[in-house]
Amino acid sequence: MTTIHSRLVSSPIGVFDSGVGGLSVWREIVRLLPHEATLYLADQARAPYGERPSTEVEALTHAAVAWLLGQGAKLIVIACNTASAAALTSLRRRWPDTPIVGMEPAVKPASQATKTGHVGVLATPGTLRASRFSHLVERFANGVQVHTLMGTGLVEMVERNELTGSEIEAKVRDIFSPVQNIPIDHLVLGCTHYPFLSETLQRVLGEGVVLVDPAPAVARQTQRVLQQRALQKNDGQPGPWRFVTTGELASFTESVWILVGDGMDDDARAISFQCVEVSSSPMPIA
Ligand code: DGL
Repeated sequence: MTTIHSRLVSSPIGVFDSGVGGLSVWREIVRLLPHEATLYLADQARAPYGERPSTEVEALTHAAVAWLLGQGAKLIVIACNTASAAALTSLRRRWPDTPIVGMEPAVKPASQATKTGHVGVLATPGTLRASRFSHLVERFANGVQVHTLMGTGLVEMVERNELTGSEIEAKVRDIFSPVQNIPIDHLVLGCTHYPFLSETLQRVLGEGVVLVDPAPAVARQTQRVLQQRALQKNDGQPGPWRFVTTGELASFTESVWILVGDGMDDDARAISFQCVEVSSSPMPIA
């Protein structure tokens, strides 16, 4: 007999990003929780979010979460720093009973680990301007110098699968030129698109700089929340993975295979790709 609870347990984890960046979080989630069903939503029709006003990002994120919940998601992961900075508080207020896992630049672990006392944070303008980010630095930098770097143009290049090569290297060099004489030893990847640029970043910055990616910690938090709510899918069957975009299906499908295809097992699991419309529902007045 299927109970409401067993139906909920087999419901997907909804993972959201403006584009393909959140796949860097998705791959850590499925590494840790291989039996879970997942529903990945990329709002590529409106990406990038990083330069948009925060009220707009907040409204877009609410619409995306409403859509994922409408599809039956049992837990939401906002796999986007920009969307988390703009909307996490109001999302949790609007859906108090829904587990929502968000993210923030990993300033705390980087500040604890630095030997030089200089940490870089590479993120979108939206993330760096948010009050959430200044509070994070106030709380956790602890005397460490935090150098912020806006990754202007990088999200667009990842969306086009331009991950290596002279053009992206030149862009990265340009972004880091103001701090080239500062002995940064840890660089926080404050946007979920950037882990896909690790090779390029490492080449430009040198192997001595440690890249700090919060995605594994987000996956562990997702696992903890599922356990706390007794929502883990434990039937030993691989859950389906659905990937949907509000943008162009062929290029999205290609990106998913390029970026995380290595992690895709070709066992009995159902993998599907789809283009969807996410209508912008009005935000409730706080
Ligand atoms: N992956 C998003 C983030 O983590 C990218 C934002 C964008 O669309 O500009 O911030």
